Amino acid sequence: MTSNELRETFLKFFEDKGHRRVASASLIPANDPTLLFVNAGMVPFKDCFLGTDKRDYVRATSAQRCVRAGGKHNDLENVGYTARHHTFFEMLGNFSFGDYSKREAIKFAWEFLTEKLGLPEEKLWVTVFHEDQEAEDIWFNEMGINQERFSRLGEADNYWSMGDTGPCGPCSEIFYDHGPDVAGGPPGSPDEDGDRYIEIWNLVFMQFNRDKDGTMTPLPKPSVDTGMGLERMAAVMQKVHSNYEIDLFSDLIKSIAKILNVGDLNNKSLRVIADHIRSTAFLIIDGVVPSNEGRGYVLRRIMRRAIRHGHKLGATDAFFYQVVAALVKQMGDAYPELKEKSAHIESTIQREEEQFARTLDKGMKILAQSLEDMSGTVISGEVVFTLYDTYGFPDDLTADIAREKGLTIDQEGFDRLMKKQKETSKAAGKFGVDYNESLNIDTQTEFLGYDRFESEAKVVYLFKDNDAVEQLEKGETGVVITEKTAFYAEGGGQVGDKGILIVGDSKAAVFDTVKVNNAFAHKVKVLEGRLAQSDSVQLIVDEDKRSATAVHHSATHLLHSALREVLGNHVTQKGSYVDHERLRFDFAHPEAVSSDELALIEKRVNDEIRKNHAVSAEVMPMDKAKERGALALFGEKYGDDVRVLTMGDYSTELCGGTHVSRTGDIGSFKIIQESGIASGVRRIEALAGRAAVKFSQQQMALIQQLAHQVKSEPAKVSEKVEQLLHKTKELEKQLEKLNGKLASNRGTELVANAKDVKGIKVIAEELTGVDGKSLRDLMDQIKNKVGSGVVVLGVESKGKASLIAGVTKDLTDKIKAGDLVKHAAEFVGGKGGGRPDMAQAGGPNPEKLGQAISSVVPFIEQSIN
Ligand code: SER
Repeated sequence: MTSNELRETFLKFFEDKGHRRVASASLIPANDPTLLFVNAGMVPFKDCFLGTDKRDYVRATSAQRCVRAGGKHNDLENVGYTARHHTFFEMLGNFSFGDYSKREAIKFAWEFLTEKLGLPEEKLWVTVFHEDQEAEDIWFNEMGINQERFSRLGEADNYWSMGDTGPCGPCSEIFYDHGPDVAGGPPGSPDEDGDRYIEIWNLVFMQFNRDKDGTMTPLPKPSVDTGMGLERMAAVMQKVHSNYEIDLFSDLIKSIAKILNVGDLNNKSLRVIADHIRSTAFLIIDGVVPSNEGRGYVLRRIMRRAIRHGHKLGATDAFFYQVVAALVKQMGDAYPELKEKSAHIESTIQREEEQFARTLDKGMKILAQSLEDMSGTVISGEVVFTLYDTYGFPDDLTADIAREKGLTIDQEGFDRLMKKQKETSKAAGKFGVDYNESLNIDTQTEFLGYDRFESEAKVVYLFKDNDAVEQLEKGETGVVITEKTAFYAEGGGQVGDKGILIVGDSKAAVFDTVKVNNAFAHKVKVLEGRLAQSDSVQLIVDEDKRSATAVHHSATHLLHSALREVLGNHVTQKGSYVDHERLRFDFAHPEAVSSDELALIEKRVNDEIRKNHAVSAEVMPMDKAKERGALALFGEKYGDDVRVLTMGDYSTELCGGTHVSRTGDIGSFKIIQESGIASGVRRIEALAGRAAVKFSQQQMALIQQLAHQVKSEPAKVSEKVEQLLHKTKELEKQLEKLNGKLASNRGTELVANAKDVKGIKVIAEELTGVDGKSLRDLMDQIKNKVGSGVVVLGVESKGKASLIAGVTKDLTDKIKAGDLVKHAAEFVGGKGGGRPDMAQAGGPNPEKLGQAISSVVPFIEQSIN
């Protein structure tokens, strides 16, 4: 049974049992910042288990693509070391959302395995959660299984949860015994980790929703989530002991071996590459881009691990991208998107390979040297960090290399150095080079500006350059730190506030506000008087700018929701910028957004503006925010309490920024540009409020001006321009004809004036008003008319000298056009050449054309002698 047949048999079996067949969802969980990737078949149904998503079916079956790397369920380290682990795999599953429960789940599973697939019962082994008497009774009394092949296990093995939070429950697992030839023991035995007994099916009896504190709330109704790894089951059906020997992998491995010129198909590195190309390709399809954070970093780690294994097998050039074609052949029918996006996948991989190639060799040498120098079996955190920081080796890649040599890495030491680096770069990045971490500020500024534009506070610190000072004089620039402020400090994409500080008659302009640790730093220039430490200052925000900024910030949230609505939930924020004049939003999306989609997105945002939703902010614990479905940038660290910004039912995001009170305040929204900024990352630039209106007015004015210029009216301007273009083309054609005629006349005239040089007719003339193309035509005509002779023409065109020489065929053994034009071109400072009968040249000195032409006759005289 091929893997494709197995997938179909499974889905069909459950369809016949009343389940709705549901297509695989994207690997990026929709609106679930708690999860890096879809890591199980149940993830897309999470809300169905929780009862918050009601669908028109209560039984479902799917073959869901899954990635287990970099999250709670992480198999990256095991790939290459076992026969059954993958970063990417397909999970076959059947689900009940409050419909059937344990009994039916167990019956369906047993029927499918023993009857539909015909597996002998004596090859199967069953486990249950040790407290789940009900499941045990069903297995023994109703299914009558052999009690010798049965184990009761604890929470680590038989209690399943999606992540730290979410639906969970006890489970019952079915194992397949690959026979005594394979090392390993039954579940629960000391050597259970071998490859002999392989878990093929996990039946989870979903009962609770676990929250962040571990509190278990019962689900509305007991449910079922089962998961069977397609690759593992295919190994059983194809009677092989390793997933890497099944049909889905064997051709892929052969292709990789061919690309890398490797003979041993059992080589571990080939398996790693075969596994990693699958996760790499599908993650790229779903909009992930290799980067240094979040999902992108997991992808980068997978890719670099594969590239390193290729390098180990002797690859000196980029090879990983070449594997895509083999994967498309293998899985393109089941996943058409793989075919459609193959060029994009290849180029993304190739770029990453090229980037990593620059440092891979060097890094490997550094590592080899460190290994030689070290004693013991643990590679130091410093070495791992240097490899990461300078050579782009993710720590797990170094750990993989270490493991091959029986070594480990000092993970803690590495993590410590990473943390330190993050802190340093954060401080430096936020504050620029002038005011860096040496400022050593411990103030915790309280932000008052959500509902006001003015405040009063004492100056706690004053800085000039990097030094704390007592006062700032008129004309000086520096930094003012206060304990409270109405000024918003740059963050979350929103620019820092501008405004003024006043103390008595003294006044300073605030040209930016940024955060340094927990302090708000006002960057100022003193305009009048001076500012001194301990002064009580009046802080006045430029209200007009702040309001216009809020308009753009709120519009950004609506845009984010509209993008997800129109393009899909794979759209995740990659960055944003908001100020009083415009907004910019970067997001993951694999291709350019079409103009129809842009028009729809713009319309949707304006619709939601007109609905005039109330905008509200509420501070709540992170888990509650997640429950509300708040959009958050994954990988960003949020404190326990977060600020959730809601716009009616249309947008819910974690955000610390300042916003309008109702969406109607935004007024108007206009997209002005869409572009790609990195592979898989798009950027939308847009305007809101006054800026949008102003833009529309400018556009309208432009059209009116155009209409006026072409003597038409705005509605007809396009038609008019079309006519004008048409007319211009016609005129150009006519002009060309006329030029031809003129040239022809000119030709006759020139032939009539030909000089006789030792019996050869020579025409050498400097012309005016002829362009380059006509010069050639003219040359051809003169040659035709003269029959036998030498012609040299020169013309000034666009500030440069153009020369052309022609010699009729009968004379080319005496004189060559190439030599002639080369000689003449020297006068105009140029070079040239060509065929014996026709040659052209150009030069920068058109004023010397006269001399060039005069030199022709003497040159011919000399050549003939
Ligand atoms: N969610 C369970 C698992 O992943 C069963 O599908 O094992």
